[in-house]
Amino acid sequence: MPDLGVNYMGLKLKNPVIAGSSGLTSTVDKIRSIEQAGVAAVVLKSLFEEQINYEAGSLIRNQDYPEAEDYIKSYTKSHSVDNYITLIEETKKSVAIPVIASINCVSANDWIGFSRRIEEAGADALELNVFFLPTDKYKSATDFENIYYDLASRVTGIVKIPVAIKLGNHFTNVLEVVDRLYSYGVKGVVMFNRFYEPDIDIEKIKLTSADIFSSASDLRHVLRWTALVSDKVNLMDISASTGVHSWEAVVKQLLAGAKTVQVCSLLYKNGLGEVANLIGGVEQWMSSKRFSTVDEFRGKMSYRKIPDPSVYERSQFMKYFSSID
Ligand SMILES: Cc1cc2nc3c(=O)[nH]c(=O)nc-3n(C[C@H](O)[C@H](O)[C@H](O)COP(=O)(O)O)c2cc1C
Repeated sequence: MPDLGVNYMGLKLKNPVIAGSSGLTSTVDKIRSIEQAGVAAVVLKSLFEEQINYEAGSLIRNQDYPEAEDYIKSYTKSHSVDNYITLIEETKKSVAIPVIASINCVSANDWIGFSRRIEEAGADALELNVFFLPTDKYKSATDFENIYYDLASRVTGIVKIPVAIKLGNHFTNVLEVVDRLYSYGVKGVVMFNRFYEPDIDIEKIKLTSADIFSSASDLRHVLRWTALVSDKVNLMDISASTGVHSWEAVVKQLLAGAKTVQVCSLLYKNGLGEVANLIGGVEQWMSSKRFSTVDEFRGKMSYRKIPDPSVYERSQFMKYFSSID
């Protein structure tokens, strides 16, 4: 029987499949079911900085005393934070798998002290889900990237548990960003987050939401970056997220160099039974290829290990299909 165990940011996991942060990981009961389904670790639903600010803002708008503003802001925040700390504590009491807490940050300042409370509550690791939509044409990419570095260095300076950063895929130079995050003490990157996307209903001429779930073809974009980052920033652990819809996708990400994968849409669409299919499929594939551990094949298809690494660099269809009219 092959051993599917992996080491992700120092956490010893029984297999490479992690339940990604979502509504499926927002309560103790749901997390218990996910553990029973067979995942090796769970990332809790993020505590959203924007949500807290929004809730505080709507309370402030509904009252007549402007001096109450600070009180409401700090009450809303500490209330949300307290609930989250309770979720971590209760989850840790209820499951044996590692529990990774997640905060969604749009600024560095407020989350530093909170990170310590997360660690004290027993979280095994912390995932920072950072994203700013650059809507200001007078700000440079560096202005935004500096917020990531500031956050990374301050949070890793205050907690001992491993810190991962969940990245969006809109960087000009992903490799430089990941390399710098590593230098600031970040142990893992989750590539990539999937964001809410707007769409337009042309019948009603109204704004709607695009499909929130990924599809299997979304894997390819991530695969390229897993292969590149795992070689060029080889000490950074990668958790591949987006488009993992089959055991074959798990194998591909491991071959490209990921330590773990995170699944979300698949579980929403097809149920928790899919976890067993992912793990069973990887196990059978390993047996058929005579691999007894994941490390025997992990990264075998990363950027530098293949005969023609430039395949991962090609991006223009012209180069592939110059013979096709
Ligand atoms: C309904 C839903 C809720 C999500 N909530 C969060 C969240 O709170 N924090 C987070 O970092 N990612 C969140 N995500 C993103 C997922 O963790 C994951 O990165 C993304 O869906 C891509 O993975 P997938 O292709 O397996 O779905 C959410 C995704 C969905 C579909």
